[in-house]
Amino acid sequence: MTDPLLEAIRSYWNDHIHDLEVATQPVGSAGFFAELDEYRFDKLRYLPNLVDFSGYRGKKLLEVGCGAGIDLVRFARGGAVVTGVDLAEVSIELARKNFAANNLRGDLRVMNGEALTFEESDFDVVYAHGVLQYTANAPQMARELHRVLCPGGEAILMVYNKISWLNAMSRVMNVGLEHEDAPVLKKYSIGEFKELLSPFKTIRIIPERFPVESRLHHGLKATLYNQGFVRLFNLIPRAVVRPLGWHLMAFATKL
Ligand SMILES: C[S@@+](CC[C@H](N)C(=O)[O-])C[C@H]1O[C@@H](n2cnc3c(N)ncnc32)[C@H](O)[C@@H]1O
Repeated sequence: MTDPLLEAIRSYWNDHIHDLEVATQPVGSAGFFAELDEYRFDKLRYLPNLVDFSGYRGKKLLEVGCGAGIDLVRFARGGAVVTGVDLAEVSIELARKNFAANNLRGDLRVMNGEALTFEESDFDVVYAHGVLQYTANAPQMARELHRVLCPGGEAILMVYNKISWLNAMSRVMNVGLEHEDAPVLKKYSIGEFKELLSPFKTIRIIPERFPVESRLHHGLKATLYNQGFVRLFNLIPRAVVRPLGWHLMAFATKL
C-alpha cells in the first residue's frame, strides 16, 4: 500500500489503540481485554440493546476496523463465524491475543477496508463501528462493505454525528474529543451519512450515545460534568434529544 494518507492512518492507529488509556492490566493479557470490554460496554450502554451480539449464530460476519476485537469476540461468543480486518498491525496482533484469551476462533487479518480481498457477496453481516469516519476514502469503504455483503445481508455501521451534544459540550468546556488528532476524522449529519450509504437498499439511522459519567477526566471540570451536566441532560426526555446523539448507528441492507 503506497497511499501516504492510508499509511499515516495505519501509523496513527498502531500508536493509538482505542480506549487503551483505561487499562491497568498488562497489554494483551486476559485481564486487559476484560477491562476494555467492561469500559466499552459501560460507556456504550446502548450498543447491546441495538446490536444482538448473540443473534448471528452460524452467520458469516465481517468486522472492518476491528481494533483489539472487543465487539468481534462478543459476536464470536454468540456463535457467529467471524472475520476481522484492520489496517493497523497492532490491532490485529491484539485481536488475535483477545481471541486466544477467550478460547475463540476468528480469521483476523491486516487489510485495508477500502480494498477488501474477499469475494463479492461473501458475508451475511458486515460491521464497522467507528471506522468510516477515520478512513481516507469513506465512500470507497462503503462500496466495499456493500460489495462483500450478500443480497439481503445486513450492514451495521457507526459514524459520529456532526450536530451532537458531545460536539457542543466539548466546545463549551474547551475539552478535546478523543482521536481528534487522527489523520482523518470526519463527522456526518444524518443526511450526509445516508448519502454515504447510498449503495445500500434500505437504511435506518438511530442516533445514540448520550452522556455517561467520565472515568478519564478528573478535577473540577470532571465533577461539573459528571455531577451536573450528565445528570441534568439525562433528565430531558430521550425523544427530545434523540437527534443529538453522538453516534449515528446505521442498519442497512443490500438488495
Ligand atoms: C476508533 S478505532 C475503532 C476500533 C473498533 N471498531 C472499536 O469500536 O473499538 C478505528 C479503527 O479503524 C481502523 N481503520 C481505519 N481506517 C481503516 C481502513 N481503511 N481499513 C481498515 N481499518 C481501518 C483503525 O486502524 C482503528 O483500529
